[in-house]
Amino acid sequence: MNVNASNNIPILEAQQLTMRFGGLTAVNQVDFILERGAIASLIGPNGAGKTTFFNMLTGIYTPSAGTLWLNNRDITGTSADKLVTLGVARTFQNIRLFNNMSVIDNVLVGMHSRLKANLVGALLRSPQVVREELEAREKAKYWLEYAGIAKSRFFEMAKNLSYGEQRRLEIARALACEPQLLLLDEPTAGMNPAETANLTKFIQQLRDELKLTVLLIEHDMKLVMEISDRVTVMASGRKISEGNPIQVQNDPIVIEAYLGKDDE
Ligand SMILES: Nc1ncnc2c1ncn2[C@@H]1O[C@H](COP(=O)(O)OP(=O)(O)O)[C@@H](O)[C@H]1O
Ligand SMILES: [Mg+2]
Repeated sequence: MNVNASNNIPILEAQQLTMRFGGLTAVNQVDFILERGAIASLIGPNGAGKTTFFNMLTGIYTPSAGTLWLNNRDITGTSADKLVTLGVARTFQNIRLFNNMSVIDNVLVGMHSRLKANLVGALLRSPQVVREELEAREKAKYWLEYAGIAKSRFFEMAKNLSYGEQRRLEIARALACEPQLLLLDEPTAGMNPAETANLTKFIQQLRDELKLTVLLIEHDMKLVMEISDRVTVMASGRKISEGNPIQVQNDPIVIEAYLGKDDE
């Protein structure tokens, strides 16, 4: 586990981060600081640019402008695979699992970039490769159980899991990469209130037990206000407000941004 207890150094920092798609500026000059060990939330109406922001933080998109630092290291334009090895893992708004693969294989695929064995070693099945595979399987099982997936489900095809289980499988896959920073894009989407309450506790557990820094995009305001140390609000690509949950809830600019958006 990449536990780093030092405080006050931001784990992640974005300066003037911008993403343009043709004529559309999906994220517009956003400054953002994430403190190590925090649970922070990114909220805002649909289309605000939240997922695009995540996609830049996780190397899926290269920013059109601006700079990103992870632990004071410039990671602007660093690939998604590389960022996983640097300790950034995520889940997706639209669940991205290999439906016809087993639960455990979905986790193993995600761990692949962490394994040291090279291709030649893999082809020859050298002792190192065999050992790494065994260790990886044990690790995958550990994280599946940690994320609350029953052992009896490990060899089930991913598509046969319930929606809530699939979301937890995605989290297990992210945890198996041993991140320092976990980004969750709408982790409770499609969950019932009981599942949402469980997930809320689980996210707190990730921070308290694993010392993870967690950044989430979330529409469930009860969850956001309950667990966030800090909330950042986006609308139309811009950061419009930021602060602790109370400050943000009472910010007239935030209230206005949500008015007239009947889908929120
Ligand atoms: N790959 C893309 N190509 C073109 N437009 C995109 C792309 N991804 C997102 N957008 C647009 O950027 C805006 C922000 O989208 P998104 O980041 O998904 O918002 P949110 O997650 O806050 O709902 C939307 O107008 C969306 O249509
Ligand atoms: Mg989104």
